[in-house]
This record gives sequence, C-alpha cells and structure tokens, in this order.
Amino acid sequence: MRYPRELIEEIRMQNDIVEIISQYVPLKQKGNSYFGLCPFHHERTPSFSVNSEKQFYYCFGCGASGNVYSFLMEMENYDFKEAVQALAERVHITLPKEELSGQALAMEQLKARLFEMHKLAGRFYYDTLQSEAGSYAKKYIGKRKIQQNVARKFGIGYASNQRQTLYDYLTQKGFSVEDMQKGGLVLPNKDGSGYHDRFRNRLMFPIFDAQARVVGFGGRILADGEPKYLNSPETPIFSKSRNLYGLHLAKASKRKEWILVEGYMDMISVYQAGFHNVVASLGTAFNADHAMTLKKYAEDVILLYDSDEAGTNAALRAIPVLVEHGFGVRVTQVPDGKDPDAFIKQYGNVAFSKLLVDAVHYISFEIACIKRNYNLDIPEHRVRFATEAAKILSGMESEIERNVYTAEVSRMTGVEESAIQTEIQKLQQKADTAYWKEAERKRIQKQKAYIAQDIEEKGVIDAQKNLLYLAANQRAVYDALQPILQTQDFPTTVYQKAWGYIGILWKQHDTVFPAELLNFFETTQEQQRIGEVFAAQPPTDTQFDLQKAVNEAVKVLKRAYIEKMSTQVKTAEEIQDLVEQKRNLDKLHITI
Ligand code: CTP
Ligand code: MN
Repeated sequence: MRYPRELIEEIRMQNDIVEIISQYVPLKQKGNSYFGLCPFHHERTPSFSVNSEKQFYYCFGCGASGNVYSFLMEMENYDFKEAVQALAERVHITLPKEELSGQALAMEQLKARLFEMHKLAGRFYYDTLQSEAGSYAKKYIGKRKIQQNVARKFGIGYASNQRQTLYDYLTQKGFSVEDMQKGGLVLPNKDGSGYHDRFRNRLMFPIFDAQARVVGFGGRILADGEPKYLNSPETPIFSKSRNLYGLHLAKASKRKEWILVEGYMDMISVYQAGFHNVVASLGTAFNADHAMTLKKYAEDVILLYDSDEAGTNAALRAIPVLVEHGFGVRVTQVPDGKDPDAFIKQYGNVAFSKLLVDAVHYISFEIACIKRNYNLDIPEHRVRFATEAAKILSGMESEIERNVYTAEVSRMTGVEESAIQTEIQKLQQKADTAYWKEAERKRIQKQKAYIAQDIEEKGVIDAQKNLLYLAANQRAVYDALQPILQTQDFPTTVYQKAWGYIGILWKQHDTVFPAELLNFFETTQEQQRIGEVFAAQPPTDTQFDLQKAVNEAVKVLKRAYIEKMSTQVKTAEEIQDLVEQKRNLDKLHITI
C-alpha cells in the first residue's frame, strides 16, 4: 500500500536532515551548509554537504544527492517504505495500518506462527532441562561454569534423546508439520515414514532477535561428536548472516563500544563476567549485514576472536568490514591460543578486563600480524616489513595516529621515520589518483548507460535537467512552458515523471520544494537522477539569461523529438507533418 503523499511530506518535514545525517557522519557547519566525509565513497577531505535550508545533501566528490528518505535508503539499505516507517517512528507519527497483498500477508502470518512456535519450543527445551531427562545436561552446564541465573537469562535448554518429542508437542499445540519444517525444527524421516526433531541430545541456546523474540537455536553436542554445534537453518525469521547472538541483552548496556566474539560460550562467559556489551557472530564470517545490525547500537568495536590461526584470520577479515561501516576498531586476543571463555574461567574477570584495556588499534594488530612473516634480524626483511607496514599505515585516516604507528614501525625496523613517511605519501597519492580514475570511469559508464537506456545524448539530458530545474524554481517558467511542452518531449522516463509532478506541486501548493518533489520517487536510482537536477548550485551569474536558456533547452528537446520521429515516418503525410513541426520550431519563441 502507498501512504498518502501529505503524510510522507509531513514526516519528511519533521525529520531534519542535518540531525539525521549527523547520526552517521560528523558534520561541521559552514553558513547554511554542513560538511563532512562522504559516507558513500572513501575520502580524506570532506566533500559531502548537507543543506539545511533545502533539506538536501550533495557530495561534490561522487555526486550522491537527495533528501532524508534517499539518505536512509542508501545508508540503511531500506526501501522507500521502510525509510518512511523508520522516520515516522522517530517523530512519533502513526502510519495507517497496511493492507498487505495476499502474498505479503501470507508471509506475515507465517512469520507470526514461527515466532509463536519458537517461543513454545524454547520453553519446551527449557522445561526438559529442568526435568529428570535434563539432569546430565544440567551437570554439563555446571561443568562449563555457567551460573544458574545466567543460564535462565539466556533461556538455555535441553533437547532430549527422544526422536520426536518436540514434534509431538508442537503437533499437540496445533502447529502443522509444514510450518515446523519451515521453522527448521523438524525434518522428514529418510524412509518417508514420518518426521523427527532436528535437535536431539543437545544443549540448546535459543537465539533471540533485537526484540527479544526467539528466532532460532544453536544446539551443542554434549559428548564429543560432529557437528559440535548444530544451528537452525535459514528461515523466514532467522538468518545467520544478520542475527547476532546476545544482541537483545547487549543492547540494554547502552555502551557505545561493543565486544565482538566468535562463539556462544564466549558471549555468555564475557556477559557473566560483567561485560554486558558483547555479541557473537555465529559460525559464519562477520559480514556487511552484521555490521549494519550492529551499527544501530554501537559506534566502536573491540574484536575478541579466538587466538588460533582461524580466529586471527577471521579477525583480519572482519576488520575491513567494520572499518567500512564506520566503526572505530580495536583488537585484543587471549594468550596461548585459548578462547575468551576458557581464559575467563582460568584467569578470572580482572585479568580479562586487563585484556580489554590492552586492546590495540586495528592497524597495530594488522602490523603485528604481518610482522610474523619477517625475521627482523635480517636487514632485507626489515626493509620489506617497513614497506608492507607503510601500505597499511597509508590507509589510516588520522594523521596523529599514523605518526604514532609510523614511529613504532621505525623503532622496530631501524628504518628512518621520514623514509617511511615518504613511502606512505607516495602510496596515498597513488590511491587518490586511482580513486579519481575510478570515479571518472564510473561517471562515464553511468552516462553510457543512460544513453543506451534512453537513446539520447548529453545535450538532451542537460536540456531536460535545466528545464526541470527552472520550471521548479519559478512558477512563471512552468506556466510559460506548460502549454508548449508535452510529456513526449521528455525522452527520459524519470524526467518525464518529474515534469508531471512539478505541475502537480505548483497547482496544489503554489510552491515546488525539491526535497518534497523527491518524495514521489521511490527507487534510489530515480532519486539519484532527480537529486542531481537540484543538488548542484543554480547559476549565480547575474548575466544569466533565463529566457534564452529556456528557449534553447526547449528547442533541443523538440528537435530531438522530430529527429527521432523522422526515422520512423512512413507516409507522405507524416513527412509533411514533420516538416511543418520543424518550421514552427524555428518560429517558436517563449517569453517569460
Ligand atoms: N560453530 C558452528 N558450527 C560448528 C562449529 C562452530 O556454528 N560446527 C560456531 C558456534 O557459534 C561456535 C563458534 O562457531 O560457538 C565458535 O566455534 P568453536 O570455537 O569451535 O566453538 P566454541 O565456541 O569454543 O565452543 P565450546 O566452547 O562449546 O567448545
Ligand atoms: Mn570454547
């Protein structure tokens, strides 16, 4: 369903773009505009501007532009509706209840049933743990030193050895076997004779979403055996690559720096040790979806992965993902290849808190990792290591920090600081050039795509953009053009639509506010193209001849249209008609 346009505009007006963007990008005021580092491309000097009067953002570097909705869509990966919903919630505007389409409604209802099913399954496993059947599992929990109140808080349970107790229980509660399979709790028997529970004889860790609903389970085997952990499959309510274990508890910590660990038990141990700002990425590499989930709550991350080779490599892979999503990242590791759970149990909470205090900037960690590949007693290795380290340092944004670590590398290698600095500068220049080349290549590619799509040239694009800009800017221009320009004169679909919407806004409000016009466009591609029309500065030249500009642009469009038609005409009459149009065009003069 579509929300009423007035409501969409009301929500947009109540959400100040400067406030919203400030939550993601630190901004500095310069007159009416605010500047910061563009979140949509990598840069070192701010070229991203937010105009408070226009309620628009524009990046002079990459051309990204738009209003508060398009910003959230890009930033949070929302679709238009989700952006509207998020901003409505923020200013406490209640949206009309959705009338879902048949398919969407069915999905919503399925999800609701799966949530209910998982809640009951969680309780069922919990009760089993408290029963006679759970006595061995309870001992195991004791052996792993999980306190009773903590086990309760995490809802830890036990799936018994029986083939189908959960299946029987859920059947009795009225759930269909199709739903049980969609939730990943039940599997068909191989011989086709019936069904059995996915989880058997395992310690059960319910996985909660941010709203503290059970969405899946991780089951740990109690003896030795494979797999050590069995997890819920991907379901409509659970995704390994998005859900983070412990999120519903960690978010209550209200800390801005969060600890990121690998495993269920690590998360629980760290939490139990009194550090509540901890989550685990479960049995899968930390990815962009995780980062986006985390970004809603945390600003900085302490990476605390296992210190074995697998854990170290996982940490090295997680770092760029976190950095790209704007987290401040520090890294710490437990000594002797232990995991955090084992460390806390052996050395206690105080030693563990020291470990956190000792967390180092991720660059320092990266440098320490590559250092292992070199023997610094050998001069040649020292040089190679310094060169490699310079590469890492050149990616560091803060000059102060960079200098600190440059000095450190210099101390380690005996290579002079100034030499390392020169190397860093060279690399930075190279990266900048590569960036600009890449940006240029993208611009050209984009332009080519436009042309292929709409079969038109830059002149025609510019003419359309100019006319839209001028017609939105001044009522007199729109009124003068309205009887002359037909929709077909705009060959580009998105501009054609914009022309129609500009007319609607003039008639309804007697004003066209670009940020409002953008509300009509619900895809990021369209928003980007319309954003471009209005984001750039208007011509300030006092000599700028409005009338001339309008006439020229109209003629470009009309001429292009006639040309296009001339390739398609068939009859003599049609040719005659075109000749006439052409003659009229020569005589055309619009006065404003
Ligand atoms: N994992 C998984 N499936 C496996 C093994 C591991 O999903 N077959 C995930 C689990 O989330 C686990 C994490 O990866 O917690 C880390 O694995 P590992 O270090 O092997 O387990 P530990 O957390 O050390 O488990 P435990 O302390 O219970 O032995
Ligand atoms: Mn462990």
